[in-house]
Amino acid sequence: MNKYETLVDRLREQIAANIWQVGDKLPSLREQAVYSGMSLMTVMHAYQILESQGWIISRPQSGYYIAPKAGFLTTPATHQQVQPAEQVDINAFIFDVLQASRDQSIVPFGSAFPDPSLFPRQQLARSLTTVARTMTPLSAVDNLPPGNEDLRNTIAKRYALQGMQISPEEIVITAGAMESLNLSLQAVTEPGDWVIVENPAFYGALQALERLKLKAVAIATHPQFGIDLDALENALAAYPVKACWVMTNSQNPLGCTLSDEKKRQLVALLQQYRVHLIEDDVYSELYFGADKPLPAKAYDRLGMAMHCSSFSKNLVAGFRVGWVAAGEMAGKIQRLQLMTTLSTSAPMQLALANYLATRSYDRHLRRLRRLLEQRKNSAWQSLHAHLPPAARINYSHSGYFLWIELPAHISATELYHRALRQKISIAPGKMFSAGGQYNNYFRFNTSYAWDERYERAVIALADIIKQML
Ligand SMILES: Cc1ncc(COP(=O)(O)O)c(C=O)c1O
Repeated sequence: MNKYETLVDRLREQIAANIWQVGDKLPSLREQAVYSGMSLMTVMHAYQILESQGWIISRPQSGYYIAPKAGFLTTPATHQQVQPAEQVDINAFIFDVLQASRDQSIVPFGSAFPDPSLFPRQQLARSLTTVARTMTPLSAVDNLPPGNEDLRNTIAKRYALQGMQISPEEIVITAGAMESLNLSLQAVTEPGDWVIVENPAFYGALQALERLKLKAVAIATHPQFGIDLDALENALAAYPVKACWVMTNSQNPLGCTLSDEKKRQLVALLQQYRVHLIEDDVYSELYFGADKPLPAKAYDRLGMAMHCSSFSKNLVAGFRVGWVAAGEMAGKIQRLQLMTTLSTSAPMQLALANYLATRSYDRHLRRLRRLLEQRKNSAWQSLHAHLPPAARINYSHSGYFLWIELPAHISATELYHRALRQKISIAPGKMFSAGGQYNNYFRFNTSYAWDERYERAVIALADIIKQML
């Protein structure tokens, strides 16, 4: 056994034995090197491994801390690994839940949006004002598909910083990720085709399939390790699949991020069956680790992956600006956009290009990630303290969702209705499954600054669950 493995094992055992408890600060690298008699490099390697395995978390300029315990959920064993659905019919329920989250007097644990006060509103307003003054009548034409050139160049440079070669020519600017995902799906399917989705999946994917009259093959997705590649291979062998819609980073609702190796295997498998990947990567900037995770698109050499993202979750939701790095589908997607929405709003594209040129985006993102991690930990601590032990919380090291499992006989849809009467929203698990599964799960939004109102709401939610047990 290598020295660093010895240290990894030793620390894992100590954490499991509660010698180190959630939130405790570990000795610094230097201190640990002195205690253990190992080199600084060995200790650093061991800490990095523990971090990648979710045992500890690093806080920039502060040190390493014991991570909240991922209350590992049971794999969705009660559900089939591959689940076909001839028809997807989920919209009516989702619509009701989304309508409820618009009421400001409701505690927004069910919301999909991050707390808007986290965003740099004043700077964005300045960019909008500048653009309003400098726009010309030709701006609308200049910003037709594929979209604003400066914005596409900036996005291409951000890919390059991750070592990816994405040409500005293959990037199409869209009205949020929702449009880029929908156009990508339309580009590679005809009504009646089979499409792979995760189970559970972002409800937007299920709505898109329903709208385009596509059939879903839902693949079991593990709360920690993501989509089951064996089940995916079985599905690819059994159905004439045209596209695969997957979230590789900070999956909604689970929060999991695929390892680089799994992303590589996913792309290889899909290419073997000539199936296009539609990669929904809207939360990729919201990681808590040291580095931004790569998308699966980084492993695509054939141009068959469409990488869809936006500024909605990390900078501004209301501008409705996103994009797709569309590979071989870039031309088709532009034509589809011209036939549907025509183009993304020119002032919004220009304002974003103006804001990104100020170079404050990365500073904003660093602050955002720090706050989101702190808030998620506060929410986790409160839930951990108040929910009955029968509820299990799946912690993830990115984004602002927690995925909570209740005992099998408890309906989260019923919980949703009861909580709403007390002006508290949650996102019931049923929203995330084409087959109405996950009814004993719910998604919890942790992006708000934790205060008494939220603490009281968690206590009320816990009381309802206890009554239902
Ligand atoms: C997983 C996922 N994909 C896509 C979207 C849509 O993103 P946008 O607001 O940029 O259209 C959302 C928004 O909730 C989401 O959660």
